[in-house]
Amino acid sequence: MSHTHTHTHTATNGPSIEVLHGESIKLLRTLQSETVDALITDPPYCSGTSSATGRTADPVVKYAQNGNACGRPSFEGDAKDQRSFTRWCADWLGECRRIVKPGGYALVFIDWRMLPAMTDAIQGADWIWRGVAAWNKGAGARAPHKGYFRHQCEFIVWATKGPCAKRLDAGPFPGCYSFSTKQSDKHHLTGKPTPLMQELVKVVPVGGTVLDPFAGSGTTLVAAQLEGRSAIGIEREEANILITKKRLAAI
Ligand SMILES: C[S@@+](CC[C@H](N)C(=O)[O-])C[C@H]1O[C@@H](n2cnc3c(N)ncnc32)[C@H](O)[C@@H]1O
Repeated sequence: MSHTHTHTHTATNGPSIEVLHGESIKLLRTLQSETVDALITDPPYCSGTSSATGRTADPVVKYAQNGNACGRPSFEGDAKDQRSFTRWCADWLGECRRIVKPGGYALVFIDWRMLPAMTDAIQGADWIWRGVAAWNKGAGARAPHKGYFRHQCEFIVWATKGPCAKRLDAGPFPGCYSFSTKQSDKHHLTGKPTPLMQELVKVVPVGGTVLDPFAGSGTTLVAAQLEGRSAIGIEREEANILITKKRLAAI
């Protein structure tokens, strides 16, 4: 992937939002150490069914209801097996740890199947794993058939770079967030609700900076801008960069 264009979107007197187009580990290596307050990201989960063919299917087949993506672009890099996923996550999590300030947070989304791999990777990258919060998507969530529990929650593995400071300005934060996904607020096959991301960026003080190396349609960046936080996002698919720029411009 050869793209490394930088687009900066800065609202007047507002937070600065930077969108980088390219491969995340490559671009993370260009960012300075100890310059952001939190890593908040939703990486490709490389999940799918219990079979290898399920995992390696196109994300449209994996994530769109009845295979209908409603025009949302697909993306690469979602077919790693558990071991290559864990190793790859530890690589970018380590690079992000360098960029986050001491005491800063990592909030990383993952599903139930890949949760053990992600908690291994976060510890392998020398973050201090602190817990797992849940995102409750509501009772509309998928269940393959009767007799199943619904796949109603995704998880937010959270960790800190060294000690977690006792804060007077914020928290304790909720251990469970309930937000359903509205079609009008979904700009990516696996897009997160903007109000959910608005809650999560609040772990960073107003004026602080969030890093999202798998920005997708830019929901973390949009949330940061709405909440007065700065953000740096990285995304590889050009179609998503265009969607992100449109969303930021519309605020
Ligand atoms: C789960 S999606 C993020 C969706 C986002 N939370 C949203 O609300 O739109 C993960 C994104 O990471 C991007 N991606 C995957 N591997 C990447 C890589 N190595 N470098 C940069 N981006 C990558 C994919 O193109 C995809 O858009």
